[in-house]
Amino acid sequence: MKQVTIMKQSTKIIGLSLCIIASVYACKSKKIASVPPPPPATAQEPPKAKSICDDMALTYTKDIKPLLDAYCVYCHNTQKKSNGIDLSSYEWVKEEAGKDRFMGSIEHKAGYSPMPRMLYTKPIGPAPGPPSSPMAKITKLSDSTIQVINCWIENGRNL
Ligand code: HEC
Repeated sequence: MKQVTIMKQSTKIIGLSLCIIASVYACKSKKIASVPPPPPATAQEPPKAKSICDDMALTYTKDIKPLLDAYCVYCHNTQKKSNGIDLSSYEWVKEEAGKDRFMGSIEHKAGYSPMPRMLYTKPIGPAPGPPSSPMAKITKLSDSTIQVINCWIENGRNL
């Protein structure tokens, strides 16, 4: 009679421990299951880091020339080549944009003259700011404008 009770009790203990082990395991396997599966391997293309420039169809004529005409060409043209730089035609801009100093000066990186140079006396085109200030007084292009120039370069400096 006593033995039967002990037997029953140990069965209970074994059952309980199995329960605990099972729940711990269930918990563990749940964690494993929550890890996202790796993306399916594409047979055709190797995975390429997506750039925000990818979907931008930028050209010199449409996107870059109006910008440089407004902010740079007043000082960087065929007659007045400040620092020997002419930004008034595609050939010149394409070449200049291949140099570190081009984005260096536009992004105001250390070691380069910050551009555009501020102009107080002559309008150099539409400038952001109140209408009461027709003179271009900006000393740095906006982040989105700089992004456009960067992407135009990254995408191959197309005409
Ligand atoms: C008001 C005149 C003026 C304007 C506007 C101007 N620049 Fe300049 N730029 C200069 C002068 C002058 C230099 C010669 C370097 C100096 O004096 O700092 C120069 C130098 C540069 C250099 C060489 C910088 C270096 O550190 O080697 C680059 C590149 C350049 N400009 C690009 C531009 C671009 C791009 C714009 C328009 C976003 C622009 N500039 C607008 C006058 C101007």
